[in-house]
Amino acid sequence: MAPITEEAVSSLKDMVGKLEARVQDLEGRLSNGSNKPKSVAEQMRIILMGPPGAGKGTQAPKLKEAYCACHLATGDMLRSQVAKKTDLGREAKKIMDQGGLVSDDIMVNMIKSELDNNAECKNGFILDGFPRTVAQAERLDDMLNHRNQKLQHAVELQIDDALLVARITGRLVHPASGRSYHKIFNPPNQDMKDDVTGEPLIQRSDDNVDALNKRLVTYHAQTTPVADYYKKTGIWRGIDASQEPGQVWKSLLGVFHKN
Ligand code: AP5
Repeated sequence: MAPITEEAVSSLKDMVGKLEARVQDLEGRLSNGSNKPKSVAEQMRIILMGPPGAGKGTQAPKLKEAYCACHLATGDMLRSQVAKKTDLGREAKKIMDQGGLVSDDIMVNMIKSELDNNAECKNGFILDGFPRTVAQAERLDDMLNHRNQKLQHAVELQIDDALLVARITGRLVHPASGRSYHKIFNPPNQDMKDDVTGEPLIQRSDDNVDALNKRLVTYHAQTTPVADYYKKTGIWRGIDASQEPGQVWKSLLGVFHKN
């Protein structure tokens, strides 16, 4: 029998991981009769990208529910630090209100900590708002390589900048859950109240035309290259996010269930 080395153990673990993913995939295909997506390991490590107001925060919770994966929204994580008035929150608020980006180190460590400790992430994850720079994308790949995991999809919600002003200035959010509504396109059942908890809805401090324009400049300069990064790896797909939300959802499912 060959000597037991760390390399041999790691290679075996890799093989077992791939086999488990393959079995789950085949099981998913076998029970493909229903519209509801199955917990297919290969479809669970998803990046949702797009400019401010494209609909990431609207679609991601539905993906979380459909795939039983965790939803990691870096903007929500930062806003929770702001609400707790931590040092990071104070610094982040200034940057967010200016439409800039918080440092790569801070953001990468936040995601790493969630992937390490959040039990909901064991079935996979939906990243919403991360990675936002090529450096973040490279460090995410490193992190996943160490876990013998790969991203399955990077989906970009594509929409013309001109359509985003109305979406952003009309948005209402429930801070505790991150649920978002729109005064006209998706109003809550009761004026300014969250449908689930009845708690008050607020407007984000960066949801004004001035900050939006800066966020868009930042997006095109720093995050568009991230889409190019995933185009090179072959996992990028773009979908038309100017459609109504139900249609965007169908387009998303179309991407994940193409094969
Ligand atoms: P973040 O919170 O991620 O903001 P964002 O990327 O600007 O995206 P939004 O949350 O504004 O838009 P969304 O696409 O989620 O839109 P939603 O679904 O709510 O980040 C905030 C800040 O944090 C950043 O600017 C940065 O400073 C910092 N940050 C975060 N991550 C970072 C990172 N990785 N690195 C560095 N810094 C980071 O929809 C918007 C509105 O439109 C809603 O009212 C909704 O009801 C409505 N709507 C949605 N879809 C439709 C539709 N199809 N038709 C009509 N209306 C629709």
